Amino acid sequence: MTSQRVSKTNVTTPVVARSRGELAKGLAALRTGPNGVRRSIAFVPTMGAMHEGHRALMRRAGELADMVVVSVFVNPLQFGAGEDFDAYPRTFEADLAACRDEDVALVFAPTADVIYPQQPKVTVQGGQLGELLEGASRPGHFDGVLTVVTKLFNLVAPDVAVFGEKDYQQLALIRQMVQDLDIPVHVVGATTVREYDGLALSSRNRYLSDDERAGALALSRALRAGAGYSEAASVVSAAQAILDAEPRLRVDYLALVDADTLEIVDDQHGGAARLLVAAYAGTTRLIDNIAVTLSANTIDLGTPIGLKE
Ligand code: PAJ
Repeated sequence: MTSQRVSKTNVTTPVVARSRGELAKGLAALRTGPNGVRRSIAFVPTMGAMHEGHRALMRRAGELADMVVVSVFVNPLQFGAGEDFDAYPRTFEADLAACRDEDVALVFAPTADVIYPQQPKVTVQGGQLGELLEGASRPGHFDGVLTVVTKLFNLVAPDVAVFGEKDYQQLALIRQMVQDLDIPVHVVGATTVREYDGLALSSRNRYLSDDERAGALALSRALRAGAGYSEAASVVSAAQAILDAEPRLRVDYLALVDADTLEIVDDQHGGAARLLVAAYAGTTRLIDNIAVTLSANTIDLGTPIGLKE
């Protein structure tokens, strides 16, 4: 890999931009390389409370562009009434240290009034794709995500942006938005980082008691069991059996969907699919997903007469 970035032995604390002015100034400095050559920027939007999953995105971003920019913003627009906006962990000093360790050049950490000087009257809607699955349980959530991501894309103007497959529906919606609205950003998905025992890393895992965490392991176990099959009905029933056997989880949905459209698939469907699950462990809502390859259940009509060798 060729990279113009500074090596980890030379780590310096990233520039922190809090206002639009500071961001514009910081970006202008990053953009201009030696002899006026334009440097490329890879962007990783986050809500902070960083873990190894966020750090993996930053490393992926570093492979894709000259400079990495990270945002840390707990976006009020994507939290519903009664959700954990106020309780959401805010760990800025630790986040900044993680960004420094991952060679991030600039951290944009605005307050809510910088991003929303007024309640936006025009927002980005995810349409049908935003109303399925997570969207059905969290009305308006994805409109909040898409609106803030659009604003961040406009403010940072990156060449590429990296999102985790952990939030699979979010990634699918952002890809769709960039395509439908001709947003000039290349979107890259990164694989889910897990604990040694399979639990997908999440900023919300810190809410779990030991017992809830033990119950939450059934999520990744169920997904792995399902992904061992190639026929839709078997995939779902294998995963469902494991979830049913775990009393510490309250399942919201288990769905086998087309990997691109997120439409529910049936036994006629072959190819790339995704098994998605959402469940509560205590009061904490957890999501996870896995890739599944389905073999189409077509009827074998035999070799047509006359084509035999
Ligand atoms: P947040 O939950 O902080 O996640 C930031 C990014 O990290 C997302 O792209 C998410 O998919 C990714 N991520 C989270 N857990 C991961 C894991 N275990 N492995 C790999 N990647 C992981 O997602 C959001 O913030 C917000 O909705 C945001 C896009 C920033 C808009 O507000």
